[in-house]
Amino acid sequence: MPKEKPELSDAMRKKLSGKSYVKNPINGTKFTIAISSAKGGVGKSTFATNIALALKKIGCKVGLLDADIYGPSIPKMFGIDEKPKSDGQKLEPVLKYDIQCMSIGFLADQQTPMIWRGPMVTSAIKTFTQKVNWKDLDFIIVDMPPGTGDTQLTFSQEIKMDGAIIVSTPQEVALLDVKRGIKMFDKLQVKILGLVDNMSFFTGDDGKKYSIFGEGGVKRTAEEFNKEFLGEIPINSKVGKTGDQGKPIVESDPENEISKIYLNLAKKIKTNFFQN
Ligand SMILES: Nc1ncnc2c1ncn2[C@@H]1O[C@H](COP(=O)(O)OP(=O)(O)OP(=O)(O)O)[C@@H](O)[C@H]1O
Ligand SMILES: [Mg+2]
Repeated sequence: MPKEKPELSDAMRKKLSGKSYVKNPINGTKFTIAISSAKGGVGKSTFATNIALALKKIGCKVGLLDADIYGPSIPKMFGIDEKPKSDGQKLEPVLKYDIQCMSIGFLADQQTPMIWRGPMVTSAIKTFTQKVNWKDLDFIIVDMPPGTGDTQLTFSQEIKMDGAIIVSTPQEVALLDVKRGIKMFDKLQVKILGLVDNMSFFTGDDGKKYSIFGEGGVKRTAEEFNKEFLGEIPINSKVGKTGDQGKPIVESDPENEISKIYLNLAKKIKTNFFQN
């Protein structure tokens, strides 16, 4: 394990310094929360979809914005195969499970790769945040792509973000990226609501817990950076299966132990923002 803490690259530092930006709120929502991680494949989209559904279940009005332009997951995970309506000026979000959704995947063929350069991605993000008729929402949950690239920068510098939740597996290689992600949000003054340890362990048929990706790493990282640790979500094959079927576990099996974890987290988030 490297002893040095990961630092931002020179190019990243340059992008972050100097310029001051106006942070525009997304119209139609009270709060906007990013689900991020820097590392790919740790469960951001799974978390974003399930926490959106959990917030809905406890009475919040929720939107789900898929900010992953190169690899959108929301169409598949929410089972949406519908184009959003447009009046030529604005896009209507697609309503599924009572959640207002928007994804580049609704507009492009799902199997067509998006071969876009950075400025086009930034422009797509601006469309999704300024030209979508989000209506009367308490929260927009933003499913971020992996990395600390243009999408994260655009959201953090130009859009009023009310918080970020960082999802990680407890693996050292994932945690290195997480540390970079934490530094980026801190630098851009986006409040980190906390860190989540996803796929933290697997319970075998023998009832024993197996820590496949290591143990306690996310909690230790939270402590190291003085951030809240929001808890562990175990590995459960039903999580993947229900996501693939387009009806995430919180919606398809609300009594499942995983769904209960999401519901408790949703209550915590709601209290955090609404104090009741
Ligand atoms: N708690 C869990 N138990 C079992 N499988 C999980 C769990 N969380 C996520 N997965 C699975 O892990 C895979 C990656 O999840 P997901 O697509 O949500 O990650 P991601 O961080 O959004 O990836 P990307 O960086 O590509 O956007 C998926 O197959 C998902 O079903
Ligand atoms: Mg994803």
